Amino acid sequence: MALRLGDEAPNFTAETTQGTINFHEWLGDGWGILFSHPKDFTPVCTTELGAMAKLTEDFKKRNVKVLAISVDGLEAHKGWINDINETQNCSLSYPLIADPEKKVANLYDMIHPNALDNMTVRSVFVIGADKKIKLTLTYPASTGRNFDEILRVVDSLQLTAKYQVATPVNWKDGEDCIIVPAVKDEDVPSKFPKGHRVVKPYLRFTPQPNK
Ligand code: BEZ
Repeated sequence: MALRLGDEAPNFTAETTQGTINFHEWLGDGWGILFSHPKDFTPVCTTELGAMAKLTEDFKKRNVKVLAISVDGLEAHKGWINDINETQNCSLSYPLIADPEKKVANLYDMIHPNALDNMTVRSVFVIGADKKIKLTLTYPASTGRNFDEILRVVDSLQLTAKYQVATPVNWKDGEDCIIVPAVKDEDVPSKFPKGHRVVKPYLRFTPQPNK
């Protein structure tokens, strides 16, 4: 069955370009992103891995580790990383899982045979510090993902985890947040000392708590 939000991220041990990784041990107490690619030495994937390489520090600041996967082997991955660094002007520092037997790809239901024969589609899993799946996303092979959006979702998820706020449509870091319905009106002033405004009883805004 497909993995759903709130499910525990399945654990696995896999060979990567940075040695053998036990996923849960490697995550430790932090957050993680696991994202799949159809195949090595393909054009869209090359641009995606380069973009992610440039965002690794931003994810690190948020205590999020990044892990990529494709069903090719280690030697291919290593050669491809050289190409990615050369063509995307980056220095890729996160590990790539080599999954020629498709063990991890099947565990995470990343192979959709009616879309792509024998390759993974573009999946993203964001995993919280509690090892639970917080976001799933599935894109077709022909559409590169927007990793700035993944960073935005991580910011929103981490705000919710810490401050009982949600984020409105098209929210960007620094903008007002929504107080979640579970917070009682009488608790709002003490929980949100920066202030709040009530548009409707169910629509209450507060400045972003961690800014
Ligand atoms: C790509 O990354 O460019 C790609 C991979 C598989 C199928 C189509 C495109």
